[in-house]
Amino acid sequence: KLKCRIGPSVLNSDLSQLYAESQKLLDNGADYLHLDVMDGNFVPNLTFGHPVVKCLRKKIPNAFFEAHMMVQNPEQWIEPMNNAGINLYTFHIEPVITDVIRVCRKIKESGMKVGLAIKPGTGIEDLRCYIDHADVILVMTVEPGFGGQKFLQDMMPKVQWLRHNYPLLDIEVDGGVGLNTITACAEAGANMIVSGTAIIDSIDQAAVIASLRETVES
Ligand code: DX5
Ligand code: ZN
Repeated sequence: KLKCRIGPSVLNSDLSQLYAESQKLLDNGADYLHLDVMDGNFVPNLTFGHPVVKCLRKKIPNAFFEAHMMVQNPEQWIEPMNNAGINLYTFHIEPVITDVIRVCRKIKESGMKVGLAIKPGTGIEDLRCYIDHADVILVMTVEPGFGGQKFLQDMMPKVQWLRHNYPLLDIEVDGGVGLNTITACAEAGANMIVSGTAIIDSIDQAAVIASLRETVES
């Protein structure tokens, strides 16, 4: 059976305490950390980049780090993010300037795993020819850019299609995923669960992470 993993997003945590917030999530049962990197260009928001990730990595030597690259030029940040200690480099296929297959190859050569992300408006037909080049497919369940948005149930057919055709693929969902929406994701076949505000804003992070996991595993 495919391994289920819960990867909290730190985006809406107290970023002045990024290390403490990240360590707390890991202590509360997170399997990996989902780090949202935005360039103010691909999405209308800014977060942090490889210098911050590198500092976080120094304090947290062993956890699995995913960078969710919401940037216009994903090729530019492969080396810096690899040096900063990222394990899984997930980028969007939408920017027309992106040579997806070349970027996948460069990520692999650097030693990181490859994730391919699609926005809500991007269909499976645009992704299809790249799936074999990826370790993880990220199906966005909100418009990327901000935490705390409403889960888009309409994205579930994409997850179902992927699971049906790729039984062993790691399929990740991100955006609006919490205790009320996790069942739909699990039933559709997602096995990597990103959850931001549902975990960060809760008073019992460990309990939320445990019940998300329980739903996906059952
Ligand atoms: C949105 C980010 C998400 C976000 C998730 O652009 O990619 O990772 O932080 O937060 P929630 O779970 O609150 O939607
Ligand atoms: Zn994300």
